[in-house]
Amino acid sequence: MKNYKIAVVPGDGIGNEIVPTGLKVLQAAAEKHKFTLEIEQFPWGACYYKQHGAFMPDNGLSTLKQFDAIYFGAVGDPEVDDTLPAMLYTFKVRTAFHQYVNYRPVKLLPGIESPLRYKSQQDIDFVVIRENNEGEFVQNGKIIHPDQPYGLATDTSVFTRAGIERIAHYSFQLAQKRRKKVTNVTKSNTLINSLAYWDRVIEEVSVQYPDVTYHKMYVDNASASFVLKPEVFDVIVTTNMIGDILSDLGGAIMGSLGLGPSGNINPERDFPSMFEPIHGSAPDIAGQGIANPVGAIWSGALMLEHLGETAAAQDIVKGIEATTQKGIVTVDLGGTAKTAEIADSIINHLSS
Ligand code: NAI
Ligand code: MG
Repeated sequence: MKNYKIAVVPGDGIGNEIVPTGLKVLQAAAEKHKFTLEIEQFPWGACYYKQHGAFMPDNGLSTLKQFDAIYFGAVGDPEVDDTLPAMLYTFKVRTAFHQYVNYRPVKLLPGIESPLRYKSQQDIDFVVIRENNEGEFVQNGKIIHPDQPYGLATDTSVFTRAGIERIAHYSFQLAQKRRKKVTNVTKSNTLINSLAYWDRVIEEVSVQYPDVTYHKMYVDNASASFVLKPEVFDVIVTTNMIGDILSDLGGAIMGSLGLGPSGNINPERDFPSMFEPIHGSAPDIAGQGIANPVGAIWSGALMLEHLGETAAAQDIVKGIEATTQKGIVTVDLGGTAKTAEIADSIINHLSS
């Protein structure tokens, strides 16, 4: 029987509710599909920082590196400086493990009415591929004399040819397995150096995939199009910050931020990949047992798919669809189900 070693980092807030819930579903799927998940849990994050002065121990990355994959919730706590979670955990892992693909599907689930009243499941089914290691989020800058009248601050984006080429290849190859359409969401009409270069390199790569239709769209138009005509999208390739913002909008048109899954993927498999819902630690609803666990459970399915357990992954997604179809949804979607009931319903589907 195949065994996979999974590092589990629930993190903070609702991470401690949705991640254990997701694990129950993953274990049920493993049992059914005859493989095992060997779980080791790490209590890292902003609450850990309050006690230890760090988001993870010094050997955190080398510990995580031993695993086949990382199953993650979210980090962040209202009592901790909110610039630290990304710097000391999320970006740190994504960068150290060359998880340069942030894979974020946007798909309307059956039984859920999108806030876009005229749009159906057929219209909302695309993937945002967010460049995850470079761009606007490299934290390359400085604040100088902040309290003086001449205070100034900079954050300089970084785009490399190698970084753009690899995310472009990933996106075109993904499109070949889908509806064969790539939209580059950019803002090169105003960021005339960094994003003009981004466009140029993506266009060069696009020529190598003549079976895939290539379009370029500015982000302002793309945000409007998410709402007015989401059916035009299949695979979106975009930069780190634009992808961050657009994927929350993607979650919103699915009906809730609590539904969106994601994978931080190292396609070469030199390092473990990390799977997490698109949302944060949601301190406003933590501890009540009402968080929507679908984004976390679906992220778990993406993890199984990445590990090669495709049938188990598809089974979980079918279980999610059967659950929403029956109207078993949490309060964020207007339902009454608790976090645990969503998992129970999906596990029931797995055993039916
Ligand atoms: P958030 O995504 O945590 O919450 C935004 C809104 O969506 C809140 O009203 C929340 O209740 C709701 N929501 C989110 N997930 C939900 C779920 N599963 N079920 C039902 N409702 C849900 O974003 P916010 O409030 O901007 O950030 C809170 C903390 O999370 C901050 O400390 C932030 O830094 C951190 N964060 C961490 C991320 C990560 O670890 N990858 C990503 C985004 C934010
Ligand atoms: Mg985000």
